[in-house]
Amino acid sequence: MNTSHDEPPSGGALSLARQCHAQGDPWQAVAYCRAVPSGSEDHVEALILLGRCLAATGDLAGAGHQLSRAIEADPDQAAAYLHLAEVNMQIGRAPEALRCYQRALQLQPDDINILNGYALALWGTGQLDEARSLLQRAVDTEPGHAFSRRNLQLFNSRLVDRWHFAMVNDEVRNRQFAAALERAVTPQSVVLDIGAGTGLLSMMAARAGARQVIACEANPALAALAREIIRDNGCSDRVRVLNKSSLQLDPDTDFPRHTRPDVLVAEVFDTMVIGEGALNTFAHARRHLLAPDAVIIPRKAVLYGGFVESERLWREGGADQAGGFDLTRLNQFRPDSIALEAASFGGRLLSEAFPVFTFDLTGGQSTPAKVQLDVPIPEAGVCHALVYWIQLHLDDEATIDNRPPFDAGAGRGQYCNHWYQSVRLLVPPVRVKPGMTLRVEAVHNRQNVAVVVVDPVSGEPL
Ligand SMILES: C[S@@+](CC[C@H](N)C(=O)[O-])C[C@H]1O[C@@H](n2cnc3c(N)ncnc32)[C@H](O)[C@@H]1O
Repeated sequence: MNTSHDEPPSGGALSLARQCHAQGDPWQAVAYCRAVPSGSEDHVEALILLGRCLAATGDLAGAGHQLSRAIEADPDQAAAYLHLAEVNMQIGRAPEALRCYQRALQLQPDDINILNGYALALWGTGQLDEARSLLQRAVDTEPGHAFSRRNLQLFNSRLVDRWHFAMVNDEVRNRQFAAALERAVTPQSVVLDIGAGTGLLSMMAARAGARQVIACEANPALAALAREIIRDNGCSDRVRVLNKSSLQLDPDTDFPRHTRPDVLVAEVFDTMVIGEGALNTFAHARRHLLAPDAVIIPRKAVLYGGFVESERLWREGGADQAGGFDLTRLNQFRPDSIALEAASFGGRLLSEAFPVFTFDLTGGQSTPAKVQLDVPIPEAGVCHALVYWIQLHLDDEATIDNRPPFDAGAGRGQYCNHWYQSVRLLVPPVRVKPGMTLRVEAVHNRQNVAVVVVDPVSGEPL
């Protein structure tokens, strides 16, 4: 039964078009719009609706044409500019779209749809300050408008990575950094916190008794937030926030006169250790920013690997049979690596944990940037993935890591739950038996790590 035709809509052509449009039938609405005579008082409104409906049917060129006709007939119709802006965004003509939104907003300054649409277009073209102020204006104009609130929150949430929440809630990490700072800091200390984020470690340094703390944070939203948090917590007298990359710090102007920090704390490590640029950050700080014998926290970082059997984990990024069909061709689009909580997929380690790269952050000897490792496999099974985790040596006493707890009591250091593990799947999986070795060829360029696992039978990269 075709319910849409059980009760035919009533009224004139434009009214019928509106009803069809509201009922989700833009095709029928197009027909009614076209039936509105060009000389009638409904003409401009019909053209606008025709443009919207054509856009909904996928005819973007036709939509643009009809909306331009509406503007030609009446240049003061905000709706025509709004919908033409939307069409222009869809066909990738952002500058034209922005001009249309601007005109629409001049005509209707409080229109919630124009405010949101314009804001999203500005956001999409990188004009963040303008986008944010329009999104805020939309929420202020109509506080109960759910989509305005959603857009503003979406925008704000993109300014600060979500992992900051899990990170500041990682109590093991926090406790160990606080303890290492307590051991390092004296009442004479000047502490440099690179990558201060919310200012948490800076405040810990102040609490440990540092004379001065310089909190350096590159992200402007976080730097502004850190200032507020530090003030809220009564630490502003000793912690100063600088919103720049540490690579841009000038000790002569950014540090108190004749002062060089004698303690560095920097938690700038991603799931592969070096992805946030930690190696350059530490090298630059040692060379240009710190006092000669400064204490460096952490002093060493290690990227570990371990081969894992976990079919569920493998199915997060590998394909073979599905619904009785062969889908292995999908694997050409598989991710190079996936960040997730590996042990939550179940499974077991098939090899000992092995250090892939060890980075001495105090300037001592690190592993060469290219290594070849033959990893012994003591267990029989199916090897689905190479899982990486990181280990930070904060000082002589404290080591933290995120070794996935596949086995009880897994961590050698204190287990931190907020870092995901990075996982490289073996496609296809490799059947292994005791006595075998799996060859790993790893290389880094100080920012990224690339790894090849060699198929033990064919000798080809997996
Ligand atoms: C992992 S978060 C740590 C935040 C905070 N220190 C904490 O432990 O809670 C790293 C922060 O460092 C910042 N960052 C990374 N490298 C930086 C650099 N060289 N200079 C300034 N900020 C940096 C990033 O923007 C990010 O906010």
